[in-house]
Amino acid sequence: MTEKLALKNIIVTGGCGFIGSNFVRYVVRNHPEVHITVIDALTYAGNIENIAGLPRDRVEFVHGNICDEDLLNRVVPGHDAIVHYAAESHNDNSIANPEPFIQTNVVGTFRLIQAARKFDVRYHHVSTDEVYGDLALDDSARFTEETPYRPSSPYSSTKASSDMLVRAWFRTYGLKMTISNCSNNYGPYQHVEKFIPRQITNILEGIRPKLYGDGLNVRDWINTEDHSSAVWAILTQGRLGETYLIGADGERDNITVLHDILRVMGKDENDFDHVKDRPGHDRRYAIDSSKLRRELGWTPAHTDFESGLRETIDWYRGNRQWWEPVKAATEARYSQQGQ
Ligand code: NAD
Ligand code: TYD
Repeated sequence: MTEKLALKNIIVTGGCGFIGSNFVRYVVRNHPEVHITVIDALTYAGNIENIAGLPRDRVEFVHGNICDEDLLNRVVPGHDAIVHYAAESHNDNSIANPEPFIQTNVVGTFRLIQAARKFDVRYHHVSTDEVYGDLALDDSARFTEETPYRPSSPYSSTKASSDMLVRAWFRTYGLKMTISNCSNNYGPYQHVEKFIPRQITNILEGIRPKLYGDGLNVRDWINTEDHSSAVWAILTQGRLGETYLIGADGERDNITVLHDILRVMGKDENDFDHVKDRPGHDRRYAIDSSKLRRELGWTPAHTDFESGLRETIDWYRGNRQWWEPVKAATEARYSQQGQ
C-alpha cells in the first residue's frame, strides 16, 4: 500500500448529481480537513438541492461546464485533486440522443485531464463496469481489471473512450491518475429515470412499475455510500496509473429487485407491466473487486441489499418535493419510447 495522500482542496465534478453529491456528503462527514469545490453544469440530472445545507466553508459551488477550458483554467489552480463524476449517465437517453454523451463524457474528460496535467493536479476518474460489455447469464465469470473493453451502448462506449484517454495521458504525459469502474449504485438522490427510483416513485404515484424485456438481466448492486468509501481509498492510497474495480457482490436480476420493491411497499409482487426491451440491452454485469480489497483493505459496509432498499424507499417517501417536479416529464419521455 502506498503512503496516504493528504488532501486539503479537492474538486468534485458532477457534485450535484446522484453519486457525486453522495461523495461530497461522505467527504464532509468523514474528512473535516478537506475543502470541496463542486463544478456542475446543472443539467436535467443535476440539482443544487443535492448539496444544499452543507457548510459553506467546506463546500463551494461553481456553476459551469467541464468542457469550458477558460473555466477550468480559472478554477483548477490551487486544488490538489480532481475527482471526476460529471457525465451524461443514462443508457436510455444515450440511445435516443448520443450527442451530449460525446460532448460531456469524451470532450469534457479531455478538457479536464488537460487541465489536471497543466496544473499538475492528482486526477481520479470515475467510470463504470459497463465498459466491459456484458456476461452471459450461464457464465460464472466476473469482470476483472484485465477484462477487455467491449462496450455496447453509446453511454458505455463514451465512458470507455474517456477511460482510454486517461490511460493514454498517464503513459504519455505522466498524468497522476487512477481509474475506478464501479457497478450499479443505489441510494438517495438518484434521478427517477433510473431503474430503482423509477419503480419506487411509480408505485408512490399509482403508476404500474415497468420491467424491460424478460427482466432476467443481472446487475451487481452497490450502496452508493460504499462507492464513496472506495473512491476515497483509491484517491488517497491507490497506485498511480492503476485501475480498480468497485463492487460489493450484489448480483440480482431485475425481476427479483422489482419483486423486492413491490413487497417492501406492500404491493402484490406481480403488479407491474412488461414493456419493450432496451435495444442492445446488456445481459449481466458482475464485478470481482479483489484487487481493491487486497491492495487497499477496502470492504463494503452495506451488504444487506434489502435493508438498503428499505432505506432508499423511505428516502423517496420522505422527499417527494425532491422528485415530484421531474417525475411527469420523465414518464412522458419513457412513454414516447414505448417504455
Ligand atoms: P447523474 O446523471 O446523476 O449526475 C451527473 C452530474 O453531472 C449532474 O449533476 C450533471 O448536472 C453533471 N454534469 C453533466 N454534464 C456536465 C458537464 N458537461 N459539465 C459539468 N457537469 C455536468 O450521474 P451519476 O449516476 O451520479 O453518475 C456519476 C458518475 O458515476 C458518472 O461518471 C457515471 O458514469 C459513473 N457511474 C455511475 C453508476 C451508476 O450506477 N449510476 C455506476 C458506475 C459509475
Ligand atoms: P438503469 O438503472 O438504467 O441502469 P443501467 O442501464 O446502467 O444498468 O437500469 C438497470 C436495469 O434495469 C437495466 O437492466 C435496465 C432495467 N430497467 C427496467 O427494467 N425498467 C426501467 O424502467 C428501467 C429504467 C431500467
